[in-house]
Amino acid sequence: MVETIEDRQPAAVKARRPIRTKPVPLSGVNSSEQHRVQVPIQELNRVLGGGLVPGSLVLIGGDPGIGKSTLILQAAAKLAAGGPVVYVSAEESAQQIKLRADRLGVHEDALLVLSETNLDQILDSLEETDPGLLIIDSIQTVYLDEITSAAGSVSQVRECTARLMQWAKPRNVPVFVIGHVTKEGAIAGPRVLEHMVDAVLYLEGERYHQYRILRAVKNRFGSTDEVGVFEMADTGLREVRNPSEAFLEERGAGVTGSVVAVTMEGTRPILVEIQALATASAFGLPRRSANGLDNSRLQLLVAVLQKRVGLKLAQQDIYANVVGGLRVLEPAVDLGTAIAIASSYRDEPVDPKLVAVGEIGLSGELRSVNQLDRRIMEAHRLGFRRIIVPKHAGKPAGRVNGEVEIIPAGSAAEAIGHALGL
Ligand code: TYD
Ligand code: MG
Repeated sequence: MVETIEDRQPAAVKARRPIRTKPVPLSGVNSSEQHRVQVPIQELNRVLGGGLVPGSLVLIGGDPGIGKSTLILQAAAKLAAGGPVVYVSAEESAQQIKLRADRLGVHEDALLVLSETNLDQILDSLEETDPGLLIIDSIQTVYLDEITSAAGSVSQVRECTARLMQWAKPRNVPVFVIGHVTKEGAIAGPRVLEHMVDAVLYLEGERYHQYRILRAVKNRFGSTDEVGVFEMADTGLREVRNPSEAFLEERGAGVTGSVVAVTMEGTRPILVEIQALATASAFGLPRRSANGLDNSRLQLLVAVLQKRVGLKLAQQDIYANVVGGLRVLEPAVDLGTAIAIASSYRDEPVDPKLVAVGEIGLSGELRSVNQLDRRIMEAHRLGFRRIIVPKHAGKPAGRVNGEVEIIPAGSAAEAIGHALGL
């Protein structure tokens, strides 16, 4: 519970404008589609739905330190080539931004930084600059004088966003608002703003892994199906155009407990390596630990493997991991995980050119998954030779394009038999 004190000044302070808006036919409304500003970072552009819509407010959320400021500074620098961009840094001093810009190799004269936390002053100072893009880093550190609660509180964050919106819409200037995801405390997270802004993008990833996923959770101007993949390097975030290749880069051949699965990130299929390790447990209560996968899903898969496939895992510690720091919560990777566990338990490697796709049900049956064709095409594109798919998906056994062999399986047990050659 967070106390919110409502003591707004009466609206009469500002003279009321006469109302001039009236309903117009929808067919007569100009669509601004053609005016979208193309962001020269393709992965970001795609997640935005094909460019920035003038006058829109885009919220970039994510854990502290994940790379939000880095990504937006890179985008700002590229967009500054087309007109002045103001980067308001309420968190860091102009010198700190400069240090980061140097590191990113950013030298744009049209990129203006403003180190200020009072939102009224920020907006006032923009009158002369007339920017083509405004960035607020972060919404939790700017404040309005007329609200008595501290910066970062729910009422401040909401009111500041509303003020930004009032500023942006009539001027047709897009605004990026950065917000930290907070776990607890009196600081309001970006969630309280989701309903107000036009688009909400979250930057996710494991802090100690290099990959970052940019995901749209709301977009008034595009689909929320698209994701952008980036890699954190010493010179900032790099776009990963070919995520499957990147995630499989360090794969060793012939090791046990390693299987490739295909997950869909939006409309994009991504091949990931799933690793599992089964070892005799030293204690009475064996451990099951998942990294990048859902822990309860792992428990369920282990239970199915025991009861329906007949693997004696009751005295085994089981660890499962998605390589590269990607979080995969889609059930389509069930089969890959199950085969990896079986492979590690039996100490038998899986054919490195094999891909497994399918959801596993409680009776050990293999259930079909969506967008199977796209998954198969991606496996094909990356040179995989065999792909195990659910029988119910209706794909006949045989070869696609004379290269990838489709192996339909009705149950987890049957699929494991195919994969381990039992
Ligand atoms: P930052 O953009 O400051 O995160 P946020 O704004 O989301 O809090 O990025 C912080 C991390 O990124 C920091 O721990 C260091 C790392 N980083 C790099 O690895 N390479 C770089 O070029 C930059 C600028 C940051
Ligand atoms: Mg930051």
